[in-house]
Amino acid sequence: MKSAIALGIATALLAGTASAATTLPPDVKPTCVVDKTQFDGWFASGKAAPNGVVKPASGVTFPPLQNTACDFYKWGSQMFLWLTSPQNSSYVFQGSSFLNVVPDGDGFRYVPNTQAANGQPAAPNFARVRAVKTTNAAGAEQAGGGVLIAQKGFTGGPFPYLTYYGLHTNDVFASYLTSQKAGLFANTSIATNFPTTAADLALVEKTAGKSFPDGVALTMELKTSWVDARAVADPSRYVLMNATVQTYSTANPNIWKPSGSAPGTFALVGVHIVATVNGHPEMVWSTFEHVDNAPDAPYYYTNTQNVTAKAAYDSSGVWTFTPTNAPLTKSIAETARIYDGSPEQAGANKGDIVNSDQGAVKPASVIRLTPWGNQGDSQATADVANATDLISINASLVNPLAAMKDVRANYLQIGGVWTQKGQIPKGGTDDSLRGSLKLANATMETFFQYPDSAEFQPHNCFGCHNSKDASNGLNVSHIFKGLKPLP
Ligand code: HEC
Repeated sequence: MKSAIALGIATALLAGTASAATTLPPDVKPTCVVDKTQFDGWFASGKAAPNGVVKPASGVTFPPLQNTACDFYKWGSQMFLWLTSPQNSSYVFQGSSFLNVVPDGDGFRYVPNTQAANGQPAAPNFARVRAVKTTNAAGAEQAGGGVLIAQKGFTGGPFPYLTYYGLHTNDVFASYLTSQKAGLFANTSIATNFPTTAADLALVEKTAGKSFPDGVALTMELKTSWVDARAVADPSRYVLMNATVQTYSTANPNIWKPSGSAPGTFALVGVHIVATVNGHPEMVWSTFEHVDNAPDAPYYYTNTQNVTAKAAYDSSGVWTFTPTNAPLTKSIAETARIYDGSPEQAGANKGDIVNSDQGAVKPASVIRLTPWGNQGDSQATADVANATDLISINASLVNPLAAMKDVRANYLQIGGVWTQKGQIPKGGTDDSLRGSLKLANATMETFFQYPDSAEFQPHNCFGCHNSKDASNGLNVSHIFKGLKPLP
């Protein structure tokens, strides 16, 4: 009961603003908990402190087989806190161990965090926010295709606020890619699989001719999602950055035309954190969201009485991507997309934003259809256990973070997915998959949440990030092939 009371305090703190927030059931059974000693140990100083620097979780010492789902979730949460730790005037994921990845022709290229991209000036917190992309020849479309528009800017704001995406990898990934493409790993353990061990890391360091300060993170790739800070109810609840992004004119409500670019302050609404750990070349696919994004569909968890309890759908209050009191639906209707030429629409050019029904472009009504990466509304034992693990680990972190008034208290790990023994999956329904088997991020796979689409159901990250060739684990990354090596 003691822990239930403590969790209740955290929930109240989170909800204590104008915005609605995804709250954690206060009576969750504590099945996966980061205790005070472990939490303190995550901080570089050895003691938790407001906006303190967290160390990366070690992928190298990850227990390869004797692990539990909770080990993966602890790894994910520590990585999130590390990535959003302050570094200089920015954050670790925009700092010296990371690089931005930007579209380049049919592929991608690296842009160091300190360098200007596309002629834009380098800013102190420089990271190029990738504007919603048109389709590209490598088949690398934005997951879900649709353009995500915030509710607030659309009704009464100066202009509509779109969601922008960033791609990033760490230095180990960049060096691995560069040496791998140069053929330097032929006949080694990492010829066609990402490094997973200390020995693999040493091989990358040898070919790169340097060691990596955060090398224990192994190979990491990230996708981040951002909205204009004016579109959220309370920007002080967010990780923020400055960036210059593509803007659109809404003069024609049915066809929004590109109208140049504008600088602004952007609020972090989602992060995909993906990296290898010991024994897992398929990488662990975990995702995080801001609590104000969108309400959860109903789900079940185990409470402190050991009883299965229901968390009801609640869309009251102000959400970034959902109208207040939006009805519960089983799919998210796409209301905006980048025009690709078909079906023909008079007056629309490729790259404009249109609505598939050719009517007015408008925000969708977003719901997290598969809370905690489980099938929605499911009382299956595995789903209930997975929800319980994730709620309890989140509560054990959000509670002390909120008490310290640390902005990271407003982000939750939605879930993670990996394979039992490090198998390279062929798809999203392989028997080897473990963790959150219906994982999606409401800001990234918005229109591809299970069972949203009748034609194509990715089920989880591996539905798109997989390899038909089990001996080539590099295919799980959609950027690896098209990304130019470091100069
Ligand atoms: C509907 C297909 C689809 C699903 C489902 C999907 N992705 Fe992706 N993802 C893509 C595509 C395509 C890209 C290529 C880059 C881009 O255009 O954003 C990508 C890029 C990424 C990247 C950048 C590095 C890379 O591998 O290309 C990360 C990290 C990522 N996704 C994580 C995830 C996670 C985590 C999930 C599950 C929660 C997920 N993705 C689900 C299609 C998908």
